[in-house]
Amino acid sequence: MSQTILVTGASSGIGQATARLLAEHGFSVFGTARKPDFAKAHGFTMLALDVRSDDSVRACVEQVMAKAGRLDVLVNNAGYSITGAAEETSVDEAKAQLETNFFGAVRMVNAALPGMRAAGAGKIINISSLAGNTAIPFSAFYSASKFALEGYSESLWYEVRPFGITVSLVEPGFVNTPIGEASPEAERALPVYSATRKRMLAKFGQSLASGIPPEQVARRVLQIVDSKSPRLRYRVGAQATWLPRLRSVVPWKVYAAGVRKTFAV
Ligand SMILES: NC(=O)c1ccc[n+]([C@@H]2O[C@H](COP(=O)([O-])OP(=O)(O)OC[C@H]3O[C@@H](n4cnc5c(N)ncnc54)[C@H](OP(=O)(O)O)[C@@H]3O)[C@@H](O)[C@H]2O)c1
Repeated sequence: MSQTILVTGASSGIGQATARLLAEHGFSVFGTARKPDFAKAHGFTMLALDVRSDDSVRACVEQVMAKAGRLDVLVNNAGYSITGAAEETSVDEAKAQLETNFFGAVRMVNAALPGMRAAGAGKIINISSLAGNTAIPFSAFYSASKFALEGYSESLWYEVRPFGITVSLVEPGFVNTPIGEASPEAERALPVYSATRKRMLAKFGQSLASGIPPEQVARRVLQIVDSKSPRLRYRVGAQATWLPRLRSVVPWKVYAAGVRKTFAV
């Protein structure tokens, strides 16, 4: 019987490419979107989901169980990125960022775990980022959400292992998706940051446009799904593979100079 896989945020970018590739490989795939009627599903079933809502998460997982009778793999992908200086970002904006990127994944895991524990098997795949290793300037709360996801997933790895459940983090560098268009800027712009923020956002846009294709991340997820004993961390693309290694061997000042140059800050 083919495995059942749930991919959050499958209306665009990495989630869409992942759900599509997994469906092409014969898995029974459910993707999600906040407005499923307006989202294109290629060979998979689209369900409604807003990861900020407990009720929406519960209803989504219940629908998968009702339709497929099982949930073998959960891919937590839904997310966005708020940009702006840390000081420009209100606590409410910061909380909203964590509510989707971090607590959204937590909600999904909590909803999926009882079924996976009962089955004595399961895979949780959390789409993190190179930003969970190397913070991006003017993206403090996006970076914080991915650092949080890293720590949470590492703890979870130990806890669910005895039940036959694995946890994996997928850490891509820049990926060419519409995430920039879907992501807001902090509302309170302070003139002292304007020039640097503008330069940084221009570099950010260029980095996304020249990023790896989302299909490359999708192939890595497929590799994890196919693996008998998946690792905790998978880096995707040259940037994400080499920068954390470099960070661990060069002095901070040298590493930070490279990051500053990359983002013109
Ligand atoms: N692009 C990159 O450079 C990059 C690099 C590393 C990691 N990532 C991570 O990869 C993941 C996907 O990003 P992407 O680049 O593919 O972005 P994207 O093209 O903008 O797709 C984001 C997806 O998340 C969904 N989403 C957003 N808010 C949601 C919510 N509250 N509830 C449920 N779904 C929600 C969106 O669905 P709807 O709006 O239709 O609901 C959409 O399908 C994110 O976690 C991101 O942090 C991206």
